[in-house]
Amino acid sequence: MPGRQNTLVEYGVATGILITLEGPDGAGKTTQANLLQRRLELLGHTVVRTREPGGDAVGEKVRAMLLHDKMTPEAEFLLFAASRAQNVADVIEPALAAGAVVLCDRFIDSSIAYQGYGRGLSVEFITAANAFATKGRMPDCTVLMDVPVEVGKARREGGGDVNRLDMEASSFHAKVRDGYLAAAAANPERIKLIDAECDVDTLEVRVWGAIAWLFASGS
Ligand code: TYD
Repeated sequence: MPGRQNTLVEYGVATGILITLEGPDGAGKTTQANLLQRRLELLGHTVVRTREPGGDAVGEKVRAMLLHDKMTPEAEFLLFAASRAQNVADVIEPALAAGAVVLCDRFIDSSIAYQGYGRGLSVEFITAANAFATKGRMPDCTVLMDVPVEVGKARREGGGDVNRLDMEASSFHAKVRDGYLAAAAANPERIKLIDAECDVDTLEVRVWGAIAWLFASGS
């Protein structure tokens, strides 16, 4: 498959496809993940959904700590990385080995954006620690749904659970957005940057337009 990155890592060759969904809180990732799952299943694919933090029993416990307990930026990152390691080992790798399409809500780029740019931790260190946690497993494609900070804030306030990171100041969320845009600029092949300041149906068309190449016959 030209352009796909999941060739050989410590876990071995995967026959599935790993797609990660990224973006600021309020970008609409979960709705789009639901729509994408339905479309892929209609096309005959087996879809496995997972999320970070969480995804497996250990990750869900770590999630509860991360989203509610106050902690240092360093502890915060290490817990996200711990959840990621377990999610890759327990959910993502077995699903890829079985040939599934894995849709992962947040992955390595969230740590770059939130802990690297948002909290000011070393992006170089986070990149290395992400590789350690994932044993080198990279997404085949990352869909980055971008919305301006104020739009994300308004959408968060419109409903859903509010977590510790959601409650950070707008200046934090502005840095997170900068981090995502920097990650997209540094990885233009993997990360598909999408303007998510639109209605659900328009966004669905944009998301599919960014990843359809992964499912084209002969790829
Ligand atoms: P969640 O409720 O899953 O948010 P969303 O629905 O927007 O994905 O909460 C996850 C929060 O954790 C979110 O604010 C982003 C943050 N996060 C990090 O700060 N670093 C990370 O590495 C990950 C995976 C998430």
